[in-house]
Amino acid sequence: MSAIVIVGTQWGDEGKGKIVDFLSRKADVVVRYQGGGNAGHTVIVDGEKTIFHLIPSGILREKTCFLGNGMVINAEDLIKEVDFWVQKRLKIKQNLFISDRAHLILPHHLKKDRKKYKKKIGTTGRGIGPCYSQKASREGIRMADLLFDWQKVKSILRKNYSDKESLKLEILLKKFIKIFGKNIIDVSAKLHFYQKKGKKIIFEGAQGTLLDIDHGTYPFVTSSNATAGGACTGTGFGPLNIKKVIGVAKAYTTRVGEGPFPTEQNSKIGEKLREKGSEYGATTGRPRRCGWLDLVILKFASRVNSLTSLVITKLDVLSCFKQIKVCLAYSYKGKVLEDFPSSVKFLQKCRPIYQNLPGWQKDLGKIKDYRKLPKEAKNYLQFIQKKLNIPIKIISVGPDRKQTIIY
Ligand code: IMP
Repeated sequence: MSAIVIVGTQWGDEGKGKIVDFLSRKADVVVRYQGGGNAGHTVIVDGEKTIFHLIPSGILREKTCFLGNGMVINAEDLIKEVDFWVQKRLKIKQNLFISDRAHLILPHHLKKDRKKYKKKIGTTGRGIGPCYSQKASREGIRMADLLFDWQKVKSILRKNYSDKESLKLEILLKKFIKIFGKNIIDVSAKLHFYQKKGKKIIFEGAQGTLLDIDHGTYPFVTSSNATAGGACTGTGFGPLNIKKVIGVAKAYTTRVGEGPFPTEQNSKIGEKLREKGSEYGATTGRPRRCGWLDLVILKFASRVNSLTSLVITKLDVLSCFKQIKVCLAYSYKGKVLEDFPSSVKFLQKCRPIYQNLPGWQKDLGKIKDYRKLPKEAKNYLQFIQKKLNIPIKIISVGPDRKQTIIY
């Protein structure tokens, strides 16, 4: 039995795409369990950059890939994403399966998202929140409805669209059924089957711990459970079958969208991190807000996800600093806090307590062996490891597959 979950420990964009791609070389199955086209998982192979929004990056290695019931899927976007890979001669149709319980994103979800939440929350405008709202109000369309309850689909379309629009959507959904009908399956049953056969399964989280609808910086969050528990509810895979939870953390912190961010650097430091780390959204192109590493966040992520190990990404980006700061705790009205607070109003008033660590100011991009890292870089990693009491197993020193160090 070998099932692992890979989660983001910060506000998303930790570099999970690259890590899932790296780890999936030894996996049989890769599964996405929540979110939808709001995710943008970037993988660079031999200099060629590719971004996945819906399909797990494991598809590049021709692994069996699943989109779990916890996902919300825009039919048109999935057709386009699959088409893109088919043109590149990648075997997709026989390797990609969609849960019969996953929900469908429709144009009215996008419209509502863009009108109501894009500015206020800083959403990606992909219709994610409105689709999950409809799911919770039990008025959504599930993949199984496309196959077995066309009357229901038609009546929901008629309720939300003009006759002309409705007809257009019916045509699109029929096309979707024609392409994917046979790939819509009971993902939970299939995963159970694979697990019994001893196959290696990777669950790929999208977004990150602080964007989780329950545990994140509410209301500046996404609408699903990005934390490890979501891998079970979002696929129908039992929790006792999960062996490891790997947390992916950037060597510093970034976030897109609105909401408090205690270690944010609105200065030359933030600009340097953004430029060196190419910190622009993979889905929206928005510049990301940047700041120092925050161990209060990582400790929280360790607790809510049961992290068994850590991956540190983009360590190379910090090479440009003579001195590096790490946030150890927050101070609030003279009190020292080590637990991440629930209220964003409260978080806004927290001030980071930093420890300074020496930088290394050497290029790390070509280093393949942990022992060859500059001593200050090793010190930085060991400091994190010790404070969190979680082993760091992988270090990423550049965007390419090859720029990965196993520790
Ligand atoms: P939504 O998921 O589009 O509803 O957006 C809600 C919040 O999550 C916004 O702050 C987005 O910027 C953020 N978000 C959603 N997906 C990602 C992601 O893949 N990376 C980083 N932030 C994300």
